[in-house]
Amino acid sequence: MAYNLLKGKKGIIFGALDENSIAWATALRCVEEGAEIVLTNAPIALRMGEINKLAEITNAPVIPADVTSLEDLNNLFTKSMEHFGGKIDFVLHSVGMSLNVRKGKPYTDLDYDFSHKTFDISAMSLHRVLQTAYKLDALNEWASVVALTYIAAQRVFPDYSEMADAKALLESVARSFGYHYGISKKVRINTISQSPTRTTAGSGVKGFDGFINYAEKMSPLGNASAKQCADYTVSLFSDLTRMVTMQNLFHDGGFSSTGVTMDVMLQMEK
Ligand code: NAI
Repeated sequence: MAYNLLKGKKGIIFGALDENSIAWATALRCVEEGAEIVLTNAPIALRMGEINKLAEITNAPVIPADVTSLEDLNNLFTKSMEHFGGKIDFVLHSVGMSLNVRKGKPYTDLDYDFSHKTFDISAMSLHRVLQTAYKLDALNEWASVVALTYIAAQRVFPDYSEMADAKALLESVARSFGYHYGISKKVRINTISQSPTRTTAGSGVKGFDGFINYAEKMSPLGNASAKQCADYTVSLFSDLTRMVTMQNLFHDGGFSSTGVTMDVMLQMEK
């Protein structure tokens, strides 16, 4: 059901790789709520071509940008403002990648060149996106920026490895930049801490099946889906949440507040 919550708003969506991506669901939902969007992803991801389907459905241009390149981000924001004929109201940062996890290197045997890349792509990129927007004065007052994160930033999930550290940094950047952008332009910046979700990035974590089933059983409402995450993000892009900023918001069916559930207890008694 659509409520026109984003009528007249213009936004940039990072990270729609394929139909399973959380960003894909969010792009669809934003347009359903009346927004105009620009889609972006790394040039290498665009070569898959899947995003063109989404671009067609959402009537959105696709502007390539590697989040590790300032030049690409400058071009993205400049071209997006040209396309919209004005400034931007919302940005979704839905980007993550761990090179050590990908290459099967455990947390106690990290390759630090890989780690630099992981932190650059998954966390520093949020700073780079925000600083680019800030310097170009690309965001309207009361604009809203959301980045996606995971509870491994607060608690240990061993196979999440260095991504846990990347997410802790990402959440810190949201808080710190949220202060500066709030003071100067009333721009709000939050992270959504999402349940495990079956996507390309999600499934890359070792033992993901066990991980997602455990979270399902540990959450009173069950795991939140990508579509439900898109709904929540739309609410944060809307004018109904104007005073929410610098927060890490759990969207996890209650997982983060649960010590144990009967389901899990019963498994342990077997
Ligand atoms: P996904 O694999 O569909 O999306 C990750 C995106 O990051 C891809 O579109 C990829 O092309 C993009 N990306 C990677 N390197 C890039 C670069 N250098 N420049 C620009 N884009 C780049 O997976 P998903 O799950 O939709 O991931 C989105 C976000 O949600 C990530 O931050 C992820 O950590 C977070 N998240 C995912 C959860 C899950 O279980 N799937 C749970 C909690 C958070």
